[in-house]
Amino acid sequence: MTLSPTAPEVTTAPLLSAQGLHVTFPGRHGGPRARAVDGVDLDIRRGEIVALVGESGCGKTTLARSLLGLVEPTAGRVTFDGRPLDYSGRSLKAYRKRVQLVLQDPSGSLNPRHTVYDAVAEGLRIHGYGDERTAVADALSRAGMRPPERFFLRYPHELSGGQRQRVVIAGALVLEPELLVADEPVASLDASVRGEILALLLRLRTELGLSALVVTHDLGLAWNIADRVAVMYLGRIVETGAVEQVLTAPRHPYTQALLSVLPEAPGAPVILTGEPPDPTHVPSGCRFHVRCQILASGEADRAGVSNACRGLDLPVLSGGGESQVACHWAAAYAPQRGAGNCATSPHPPADGPQGD
Ligand SMILES: Nc1ncnc2c1ncn2[C@@H]1O[C@H](COP(=O)(O)OP(=O)(O)OP(=O)(O)O)[C@@H](O)[C@H]1O
Ligand code: SF4
Ligand SMILES: [Mg+2]
Repeated sequence: MTLSPTAPEVTTAPLLSAQGLHVTFPGRHGGPRARAVDGVDLDIRRGEIVALVGESGCGKTTLARSLLGLVEPTAGRVTFDGRPLDYSGRSLKAYRKRVQLVLQDPSGSLNPRHTVYDAVAEGLRIHGYGDERTAVADALSRAGMRPPERFFLRYPHELSGGQRQRVVIAGALVLEPELLVADEPVASLDASVRGEILALLLRLRTELGLSALVVTHDLGLAWNIADRVAVMYLGRIVETGAVEQVLTAPRHPYTQALLSVLPEAPGAPVILTGEPPDPTHVPSGCRFHVRCQILASGEADRAGVSNACRGLDLPVLSGGGESQVACHWAAAYAPQRGAGNCATSPHPPADGPQGD
């Protein structure tokens, strides 16, 4: 990995915290409700970058939106700076100034008919602000668009993909937030541009002390940017800890399977069998048990935990920074094997981004 700016000291009190968070959606045709977020505790401390990873449909975006106050949780709560979110209009507006969402541009976050200046100034106009021109120029500069005035009157179609993503980030920065929630911020960018945008996010953390939750299905991205990673499966966080630890010595069979299919992973890839996860039918016991390679291979049985796998639900992992795993087998058996000696412990991706 080539990016290693000195991170500001991470404080212990969480800036943003989810406790016992549940978000459900009505089922189709009156069927069972979809448990998109199904019991999540997650803390993000000042200056910390947390990556939320997991396959499509596991609830990453729903969790991110509920942390932003865009979706009201069905149960549980979100606190920011020690205070529970207040979902009344005025409080939410103030909150959204402090916590900004960064989407990827191809999802339509930039209006093709708005100039770069208007795109970045939009947040200022909503929240009311003093010197708009200076603030827009500063935000564009911070996002690496220099000299900023050169870009003011450009339209999105006149910019490269990387520049458009920088404009999206400038639009978030202009309100001087304390935390960014970036949902797949570089998913559609070329590898080289992806590295530049990741380097930019890291620099913002160093220069501004920004915290970030980066939502991604890309473990390489998590490795390159995050201090901590939370692996989500079917509405729950199933493994969390320092990024080096989780990605070099994964303990949960699901994390091991995700890592085993990376091109640089040693050994045979673990191809998960069984039905893709469905949040309207969350399995009893361990929610991963119908697809788990450790259960299917008989290894869980040999460790004496197969009945627990099928019938005993696992507790919600606490939201703090410590290394944790929600797996009967990992808890009962894997620690004895040594942290670096799990069934699958591939090296992290080598193709990190280059400096900005
Ligand atoms: N507004 C909604 N109404 C009903 N179901 C929804 C709604 N939003 C999300 N879901 C369901 O909740 C589950 C989680 O969706 P979510 O978009 O949070 O997943 P994700 O991890 O972000 O996936 P992806 O990686 O594809 O973006 C999915 O099964 C999805 O179909
Ligand atoms: S608890 Fe059992 S079924 Fe679940 S991941 Fe661990 S070994 Fe697999
Ligand atoms: Mg999503």
